[in-house]
Amino acid sequence: MSNGAAAHASELVAVAAERRWAWIVGAIIAMIVVMMVVTGLHWASMPPSRVETIDAKTLHLRGEFVESNLGTTLAPDGKVTARLVAQQYSFVPQCIVVPEGMPVTFRATATDVIHGFVVGTTNANTMVIPGFVATFTTTFPKSGEHLMPCHEYCGTGHEAMWARVQVLPRDEFLARARSGERLSCVAR
Ligand code: CUA
Repeated sequence: MSNGAAAHASELVAVAAERRWAWIVGAIIAMIVVMMVVTGLHWASMPPSRVETIDAKTLHLRGEFVESNLGTTLAPDGKVTARLVAQQYSFVPQCIVVPEGMPVTFRATATDVIHGFVVGTTNANTMVIPGFVATFTTTFPKSGEHLMPCHEYCGTGHEAMWARVQVLPRDEFLARARSGERLSCVAR
């Protein structure tokens, strides 16, 4: 084979490979566009069931998330609510008390940037976004203690941002909650 023919053959191989990759990249781009369109239409047609907003600039001054109202409460109708605030780089309260085997509604908001939390290996997991109230209800089947780290990168102190969650036996929780105060397990 002459030099010219060899060069021509290798050029054909290169062209074929480039064409193959062009198709693969084109397919990937097409797939991403389809995903964007489908998820966009899906969100537009089925928006989140509830959106609750709050003014992050005044939440420490008045309303539900003032410091004296944070922690866990037992309402007269038996509903347990744990309220907390996320900020760079801590949760308030630092230690959250919840009962074992009773539905607990978490209500959380952020003062500055996007945070999030997950309670140990349970399904309690949410983002916490300034300007919005994140809420979910879950039940902790076992008493014990969990770590609750922030799981959205929120700045240089992110990895040091965490709280604890104490799941108390139901009777112990009810005995403490009867007094009506905001419960937490923060050492005083
Ligand atoms: Cu707060 Cu990461």
